[in-house]
Amino acid sequence: MTDLSQFIGGLPKAELHLHIEGSLEPELMFALAQRNHVAIPYASVEEVRAAYDFSNLQDFLDIYYAGADVLRKRQDFHDLAMAYFTRAAADGVVHAEIMFDPQTHTDRGIAFEEVIEGLLSGMRLAETELGLTSSLILSFLRHLSEEAAFETLRAAGPWLDRITAVGLDSSEVGHPPEKFARVFAAARAQGLKITAHAGEEGPPAYVHEALDLLGVDRIDHGNRALEDPALIERLVAEGMTLTVCPLSNHKLCVVDDMADHPLDRMLALGLKVTVNSDDPAYFGGYVADNYRAVAKARGLSRNDLVTLARNSFTGSFLPPEAVAAHLERLDAYAGG
Ligand code: ADE
Ligand code: ZN
Repeated sequence: MTDLSQFIGGLPKAELHLHIEGSLEPELMFALAQRNHVAIPYASVEEVRAAYDFSNLQDFLDIYYAGADVLRKRQDFHDLAMAYFTRAAADGVVHAEIMFDPQTHTDRGIAFEEVIEGLLSGMRLAETELGLTSSLILSFLRHLSEEAAFETLRAAGPWLDRITAVGLDSSEVGHPPEKFARVFAAARAQGLKITAHAGEEGPPAYVHEALDLLGVDRIDHGNRALEDPALIERLVAEGMTLTVCPLSNHKLCVVDDMADHPLDRMLALGLKVTVNSDDPAYFGGYVADNYRAVAKARGLSRNDLVTLARNSFTGSFLPPEAVAAHLERLDAYAGG
């Protein structure tokens, strides 16, 4: 391992853009298929991995929703969460804000309670066993209706004190943030933070809408903001966090080549960017792999890497005291 690779592995960091359903590794998919007697259209783990060849977001989403069908019981969600936290902790992640897509499960007849209680028990165990703290972001599926999102927010009612934020994911183009303005206003009124995928495949106008109509606290992806100089200026002025996902961007053809990834350009522009794994089981790597891939492709310095880790804490939804404690540990690591 090179010095830089080792430095990345030990760098204390938060992960802010992670879909827990996207951390379902083929091995666990097979184990759960067996445990729950669910038929899957693959004969082997190798066959599953070979199917992960995407030309756009929708290609991926079709396979991702199909894979989630093996998740049936509370214990499955617990196991899924613990598998992710174990990998993340090994990558230097000390805090993770994980998205889950309740509608992917409730639409299959799985109770909201099974999903969230399984995740919460995994989160508690990660804290005691791995020292990794985490919080939940309830993500609405944007290809479904606003009414369905409202229904999901209602279902979450008994657990609102254990949910930190709401998010917006799934097929972006044709489903602008505007479609969900009222449900996000309702979520904010209930004390939840707001994040939304915007500018992954969708145009810069969707990033404007996420800011103006949803009142986001951060933007997931945001790559296409780079096409709009006034928007860049605004994001910089507001100190808006962007949760960028390099390996995802490459696998979903948001960038053709990792060598062309704009992360260093974003840093140079003064954008508050972070590095995240998105759906690590599908995109070929966890968060440290994302740091390594973009560091290698774009020649990032140790200083750049420390800035990315710093942004991951200051862009998190943690209280200021916790952020300060993480930054102190980060500074000790970077200076040591
Ligand atoms: N759901 C899981 N990963 C996603 C992504 N990268 N974009 C939109 N929806 C998603
Ligand atoms: Zn995502």
